[in-house]
Amino acid sequence: MAKPRAQFICQSCGAVFTKWSGKCEACGDWNTIAEETVEATPKGLSLGKGKHLELVPLSGTAEEAARKTTGMAELDRVLGGGLVTGSATLIGGDPGIGKSTLLLQTVAALAKSGLKTVYISGEESVSQVRLRAQRLGLEKSAVEFAASTSVRDIMHSFDGAEVPDVLVIDSIQTMYIDNIESAPGTVSQVRASSHELIKLAKKRNIALFIVGHVTKDGQIAGPRVLEHMVDTVLYFEGERGHQFRILRAVKNRFGGTDEIGVFEMSDRGLNEVPNPSALFLSEREGEVSGSAVFAGMEGSRPMLLEVQALVSVSTMSNPRRAVVGWDSARLSMILAVLEARCGIHMSDKEVYLNVAGGLRINEPAADLAVAAALVSALTHVPLPLRTVVFGEIGLSGEVRQVGRTEARLKESEKLGFETAYLPGKTVIKGLTIGKQPIHHVDDLVAVFRSNARDMAAEEA
Ligand code: TYD
Ligand code: MG
Repeated sequence: MAKPRAQFICQSCGAVFTKWSGKCEACGDWNTIAEETVEATPKGLSLGKGKHLELVPLSGTAEEAARKTTGMAELDRVLGGGLVTGSATLIGGDPGIGKSTLLLQTVAALAKSGLKTVYISGEESVSQVRLRAQRLGLEKSAVEFAASTSVRDIMHSFDGAEVPDVLVIDSIQTMYIDNIESAPGTVSQVRASSHELIKLAKKRNIALFIVGHVTKDGQIAGPRVLEHMVDTVLYFEGERGHQFRILRAVKNRFGGTDEIGVFEMSDRGLNEVPNPSALFLSEREGEVSGSAVFAGMEGSRPMLLEVQALVSVSTMSNPRRAVVGWDSARLSMILAVLEARCGIHMSDKEVYLNVAGGLRINEPAADLAVAAALVSALTHVPLPLRTVVFGEIGLSGEVRQVGRTEARLKESEKLGFETAYLPGKTVIKGLTIGKQPIHHVDDLVAVFRSNARDMAAEEA
């Protein structure tokens, strides 16, 4: 048998080195290289005769993946329409964000629909899991569970006739295989454990959920390798101090990756939020300056969000710019366009931009809403209360149409919005499209000028 040899493996990206160093040459991270003992594989393995591959044309029948609905619409949406049997799904997220809660609720819902579900906890004891179940009102659920960290025991438990339909491993960082010397949570252990578990899932057609903790910089702790091994990677995220949680697909072999699911953490577990716009706008105060409602899209779903801006006098030579929930480079661009194309100067001011509720916007369609919030903050002229704004701003100040205009306007109408500022002129009954379409940022500035005149006239 080959002698085990020591290797130095980056715990962040999984790169292998022959000697230790402070910095990983592959991913650039510091202090991530650790020594691990690896079974040496015999070199120069001579391959015997294989069998001829059967080559087939691209045309022909394709089997649709068999799906099961999880009983949680928000989760089904993110999975691409339900859970695929025989697939492996990684759920990543910060410690304490609610991964265990989400999965316990999910398996309970699946058990209710008659599936055999097994939950393996490597982090909590039997009593701790029972306490959680009681808190969630799930103590009568048919979910079976065990507290274990040994992959060998798990494999052994499911090599007989009866296998679960759904298996949860919480978390992969606590699992270990006893013939590998490294500690649980190291790259070798995480990789080998996942490999075995995924092999089991594929062979026995089990839908497997693996929980993975995320490190400070947002990576699944240990190897990114894990993300390549599974079919689907979901991230469970949320801002501290906010009760809502977002489930986001970052990789999905069976569906899109732009869908999100929205949940709310209560004292009795996670509740689905079928209408997030209402939640995100619920704390909005009356007509205030520096606020604009953006009609955005998250995947196939329209979502209204409030963009807030604050512009204040600065004494610094380099005034502060702080952004939460949006791209700061994009903010600089919009400030530059306002300055160069409309003569609106904010270079001597501090500018703060915030997407209320803690959500992050990735769409350029939010440009116009950001510009509206900025101009409103600077001029102290509020937009009328029930107004939404969207459109992409180009460098010459032109405002471009964005996709899914109809869906954005419909959602706005549903939530009682009355006016929309946007380029182009898709019309929805019951919703006024500004006084004229916004084709240039100047048109937006004109709206504020005319509102300011109205305000002055009212005061006089
Ligand atoms: P948990 O699911 O244990 O997080 P993770 O598995 O991602 O580490 O969730 C832990 C947090 O959720 C904890 O701070 C308590 C809170 N929580 C509630 O607010 N309500 C509940 O019903 C439950 C079960 C947890
Ligand atoms: Mg947990």
